Amino acid sequence: MRDGAMTGQTNLAVSPAVAPLQIGRMRVETPVVLAPMAGITNAAFRRLCRENGGGLYVAEMVTSRALVERNPEALRIVTFDEDESPRSAQVYGVDPATVGAAVKLIVDEDRADHVDLNFGCPVPKVTRKGGGAALPWKRELFTRIVDAAVTAAATRDVPVTIKMRKGIDADHETYLEAGLIAQDLGVAAVALHGRTAAQYYSGHADWSAIAELKRTVTKIPVLGNGDIWSAEDALEMMAQTGCDGVVIGRGCQGRPWLFADLQAAMEGSDRRVRPTLGEVADTVYRHGELMAQFFGDEDKGCRDLRKHIAWYFKGYPVGGESRHALALVSTLQELRERLNALDLDQPYPGDAAEGQRGRQGSEKRPHLPHGWLDSRELTAEHREKLAEAELSVSGG
Ligand SMILES: Cc1cc2nc3c(=O)[nH]c(=O)nc-3n(C[C@H](O)[C@H](O)[C@H](O)COP(=O)(O)O)c2cc1C
Repeated sequence: MRDGAMTGQTNLAVSPAVAPLQIGRMRVETPVVLAPMAGITNAAFRRLCRENGGGLYVAEMVTSRALVERNPEALRIVTFDEDESPRSAQVYGVDPATVGAAVKLIVDEDRADHVDLNFGCPVPKVTRKGGGAALPWKRELFTRIVDAAVTAAATRDVPVTIKMRKGIDADHETYLEAGLIAQDLGVAAVALHGRTAAQYYSGHADWSAIAELKRTVTKIPVLGNGDIWSAEDALEMMAQTGCDGVVIGRGCQGRPWLFADLQAAMEGSDRRVRPTLGEVADTVYRHGELMAQFFGDEDKGCRDLRKHIAWYFKGYPVGGESRHALALVSTLQELRERLNALDLDQPYPGDAAEGQRGRQGSEKRPHLPHGWLDSRELTAEHREKLAEAELSVSGG
């Protein structure tokens, strides 16, 4: 982790406990993956996480269509820091030819070392058109998309992985079949978020589904995702499911030092980062600096930092007024001043800083195109709807 020890660390002897991840020709020493999160996992946040611990840090999702059209923002998403390795991109698409062309662009222009395909988005405006987590239900379409990506990536030996949910709802699960199809097509690893689209972000992810996938897909690594809030949760998931690595989403929002904890845990150490408020403030400032560099604009960087503020101070004794002021900064100077005004000696608040953070939501009936569940094959009408699915996607 960055700048030496934070409060609460002990340095116990390290004995390698968990095997590295081998994803195609890509080796990841610490079997921990930063989940792609639209609007969060930009190059600044990934650097901050990397400064804490090892792993695979996936960029924000980009749509295949935007890439093929060479949309500047899409191209920026698949532009990595010079020292970022491996460079990991996530692509979302609904049309095999466009996904193939997008992956070809990435590998031909040497923009990434790894491509992940997103089949997990539960957002109604996406599933309503048959995209996201609704897509694997159309078996042949799913197969053709994955095949197109793997074929395009194979020209440069770039591994392709897929990330998915369990399915549409409890009666329409697709993950075991999708995992087997992916394995047969030459996908290098599969990641499962243990919820259906209907479950959105409600309740607790079903880790038993991850175990079931691990028992079913036996030739490539299986990665588990959902509700890992601490290094102990990660170890618990690996023990319960036998998965080969963990994928961390909301748990690292406002907590990039979780990657230091995860690395320690994977190495068999019980060293954990328990930052004082002053140490959190230093991390927030570092995040602000990286955001300003990333956007090439202090104001934009500070604005984007705002959504992270409440997560950083979860459980710390920081009053409403201070939080509000911090969430309104527009320069690094202001950020420094407002952070310095806090009572920085406060110790780690324990349980109050732990547990769930970020997006939640209740279970809801998934929005799907009319008649979507009637058949596993794509009708002409559904094909048309799908073409629109990529225009309205924003992660999830
Ligand atoms: C704000 C936000 C944006 C997300 N964007 C994406 C995305 O672009 N691609 C993707 O595959 N998953 C996306 N996800 C889902 C996460 O990658 C992850 O699967 C999910 O949050 C469950 O993991 P967690 O319990 O560790 O958060 C997003 C999640 C959140 C909270």
